[in-house]
This record gives sequence, C-alpha cells and structure tokens, in this order.
Amino acid sequence: MHHYDVNLHLHPLIGPGYEPIQDDPVFDPARHLALEKPASTLSLTDLGYGEEIAATTPTQVAATSCFRVLSDEGVETMLHVCKQLEAFTTSNPRVARNTRGGVYRSKFLRDFSMCPEYIEHLSGIMETPLLPLAMGHQIAHLNYQPLTVGKNIDKWHYDTLQVDTVMFVTDPKSVEGGEFQYFKGTRKEMGEIYASGKSFPHNRIESPDMPGPGYSVLMQGNYVVHQAKGLRKEGERITLVNGFSYADQHIPDYTALGQLFHADPPNIASAEYARHIALRCSRQLEQFINEPRFSDSPKKHAQGLSLVQTELNKAIEQLNNADGEEMRHFGES
Ligand SMILES: [Fe+2]
Repeated sequence: MHHYDVNLHLHPLIGPGYEPIQDDPVFDPARHLALEKPASTLSLTDLGYGEEIAATTPTQVAATSCFRVLSDEGVETMLHVCKQLEAFTTSNPRVARNTRGGVYRSKFLRDFSMCPEYIEHLSGIMETPLLPLAMGHQIAHLNYQPLTVGKNIDKWHYDTLQVDTVMFVTDPKSVEGGEFQYFKGTRKEMGEIYASGKSFPHNRIESPDMPGPGYSVLMQGNYVVHQAKGLRKEGERITLVNGFSYADQHIPDYTALGQLFHADPPNIASAEYARHIALRCSRQLEQFINEPRFSDSPKKHAQGLSLVQTELNKAIEQLNNADGEEMRHFGES
C-alpha cells in the first residue's frame, strides 16, 4: 500500500453547501493537460536557506521557471470556469479580489486540482511526492485583478501552506504589468528589510517569464517570498493557485490557520483544517494497522505514534489560538 497514492481520493466531496456554477464542463486529462517540465529551478540554498529548515522540507527545489500545464483546450475551458467563479470574489487585507472554495462550485476545477497525473508530474519536478490538500479553500485559490488599475494583485508575502503552483489562466502577454515576482532571499531577510524601512533591493527580484496562459510556476510557497504586481493598464488577469502538502510523513504539516481566518470564515477554515489533519494522521495510523512492523523495537513504535500525537497537539493548539492573528505581509513595491 502506498500511503501517498494520489489516486486514493481519500476525502469526500462535501463542501459548505455552495451552489454549483451553471455550466461546469467535464475535466478530461487527455484533452486538457499538456504537461511539460520547467527549464530551470532555484534551490533553497540559492535563496539563502540552510540547515535550520532541513527538518521542515524533504526537497531542495524552491521555485521553478514557468512550464506548461494546460493544453489550448484546457486553457479555454479553465477560463470558462473561472469567469463563472468571478461572481464569488471576496477581499482580505492582502488581496482585493479572490475566489476561495471554487472546488465546491466546480467539479472541473476540483478534478483538475486533484488529478493524479498532474500531481505526479509536479511531484517529479519537486523531487518528492506531493498530496493535494484536503482543504477545499486552499486547494484551488483564484486571484482576479483588482478593479483599480495599478493596485497590486497581492502584496509581498509567503504562503500559509507548503507547496503551490501559480498558473496564469488569462494570457499574461495580453496585459501590461501583472507580473508574478519572487524575492531571491529568505523570509527573515525580507522581514528585516520591511521592518527597517530600507529601500527594496530590486536587483534581487525575479520575474519569471510567463510565456502564455496555462503555464505555471511551482514553489515552496512558505519559503519563497512572492508578490503579484498590479496591472498598469486596464485588462484582465486571472491566476489559479493550487495547494499541496508533502506526502513524506516525517515532514510536519505547515498550515498557518490564523492567517487563513482572514481569507475564509473561521468556522469553514477550521472544518477544513481539522479534515486535513485528520486525513494526514489517519494515513499514518493506517500504516500501523496494515503494515505492522514486527521487527521494530518498542521505542520505534512509540516514535511513530508520537509523530501523530505531535501533529494532533499542534493542530489543537492552532485551533484554540488562531483567532485574532494579524495578517502577515511585507507591503508592495
Ligand atoms: Fe502566495
């Protein structure tokens, strides 16, 4: 049994009762995907991270150049879905217009975001197996351009999850501005620059070339500080952010629940977080049931169970204390 088998679809399609979109096409990987590999990647070392984060990530791959994900037909169909989901945008202190939980309104979006072929492809690029998050509002987040020209789509920040893609649904070449950018440095460095009020080191910003719609960047979103620039002229810009976590059970979960409370109603974020953690822990416990290790020492068994206990304890602590956190970001430039 592969505990990280993405084909298992272990969590059910039960959302908070959102109405489905009117015209929801059927997702067909054979027609809608056109998966390619990125030409280059940046490592965590390239960004300045060292041993201090080794226990929190199973891979050195930090961020990729843009690579193709969707076919032309896939782009057209995804745009059709995203245009319908634009009716459900909300705002938070970082993003003027985003739609969260679109997977509960569109099976196309959900089937794409959880497609085993797609996730296995991303796992290959990331050099470690990935799992789709069981948090419906995190697994497929949509950003729409603000209604004010010039206003950033999203400020400098790092993510509330471990791994994500940023895919252009609209054509990035058809608008002026709207670049996705990341900082070639660490979270700590960015925090110090922001707190000191020093001028921003523009020579350390990377704007990966976005060849067209249906192309993505893949990154460790909780370590790569990034932003999305505003449009300099009126136009349409839609991006889709898919979220993942590591299948490697030795890597602790990273979900910034207090930050999510700014994006989603706390009861919804909490229900999804509890499901996400329960799924992770149940996968680990299933191994004890299905693959008993008769040769392991008592201490080894205790270690395995204690991993689950630690994860549950952390989750309980977050659920009890997440309320009232300020939203973190590093402004815009
Ligand atoms: Fe982000």
